Amino acid sequence: MSAELDFGRHLDTLIPEYVRNFEAYVPSKPDQHLMREYGAPFLCRMNNNENPLGPPPAARQAMEAYSVDLLSLYPSGDAYDLRAELAARFDLSANRFLVGNGSCEVIGSIIKAFCERGDNIVTADKTFAVYEWVAEFSGIEARLAPLRDHAFDPEAMLSRIDRRTKIVFVCNPNNPTGTYWPADVLVDFIKRVDERCIVVVDEAYFEYVDKPDYPNAMSLMERFPNVVVFRTFSKMYALASLRIGFMAGSTAVIEAVRRTYVTYSVNTLAQVAAQAALADLSGHVVRSRQMVCEARTALTRLCAELELPTVGGEGNYLMIKVPINDTLMYRRLMRRGIMIRSMTGFRFPGWIRVTLRESEAMARFAEIFTDEIRQLRQSAHA
Ligand SMILES: Cc1ncc(COP(=O)(O)O)c(C=O)c1O
Repeated sequence: MSAELDFGRHLDTLIPEYVRNFEAYVPSKPDQHLMREYGAPFLCRMNNNENPLGPPPAARQAMEAYSVDLLSLYPSGDAYDLRAELAARFDLSANRFLVGNGSCEVIGSIIKAFCERGDNIVTADKTFAVYEWVAEFSGIEARLAPLRDHAFDPEAMLSRIDRRTKIVFVCNPNNPTGTYWPADVLVDFIKRVDERCIVVVDEAYFEYVDKPDYPNAMSLMERFPNVVVFRTFSKMYALASLRIGFMAGSTAVIEAVRRTYVTYSVNTLAQVAAQAALADLSGHVVRSRQMVCEARTALTRLCAELELPTVGGEGNYLMIKVPINDTLMYRRLMRRGIMIRSMTGFRFPGWIRVTLRESEAMARFAEIFTDEIRQLRQSAHA
């Protein structure tokens, strides 16, 4: 028997069962590879809810002014200046913030800080999957409450909380359904949790929401010290490739999470760009919201014409029910240069999620998607 095969068998006994049983996430290949693989003439990414307008001008300038010579230095290990900017902006002290390598990193840090074997986290079954994944590959049970009318269901969430529940994750607005809990629902939920566990409100798409009853969970942290807020620079601020996001919470919660956090994980350029993005005064947020609003109106109208159901409200994305398997629809659109998110992985088989972008991309999507739907209907009637 080869040494490798022999070690392979032994290796299995070294890996905890919950890691052995976990299937690794497969990221998409780079554009050039995908275009070759699918024979696509171009590639329009509408799969990751990125902002095609790019970073705000102030962030661009800050990055351009950044000297490559400084790359030999380690970054500020606790994002000192960025936290000062966050403190000023949100009128909270700087030690209420923890900056991470994307908000995904702080999901891992908070689970590590609060959960041990036998504990559980509670979230929805059809939401951003990273809460569930990190819990599972850490050996922590993820309790999933079904959505009600495509929205987080407070009763279903509360009914799953027990004395071993350490964290509840609420995605507000929800990715992928675009629903949100208005202020009264969120406050009532937090009151009924009654400090039994941490309540994380993930506001990754916060800056896209322009509704009077949409709560800013950051303003609830004074009243409810178990509330933690996640924000990211990947979405509205278009810094996804730099990987930067943050959590805000009470000093005690942040202090606990800091213990499980890998210092120096956030690079300097990301810190510099994020700081400038917050201070940008060019109207980037308004422009981006306007773009998304126009795209949503046009795409919703198109889907109504095509008699395809949609789900979506807030955030820069819309879900569409398609008449064939969503993976097949993904492949058909990929061959024509359009990359959407197939939703079986989100437990929405038969649905796709489309990022709302600038008018040129939306027009291109409309033309190709309409053509595909017509072809499918013609072949069904042939
Ligand atoms: C709801 C939600 N939270 C967090 C993230 C992760 O963001 P980041 O790029 O900061 O890791 C995403 C990314 O898609 C998201 O949709």
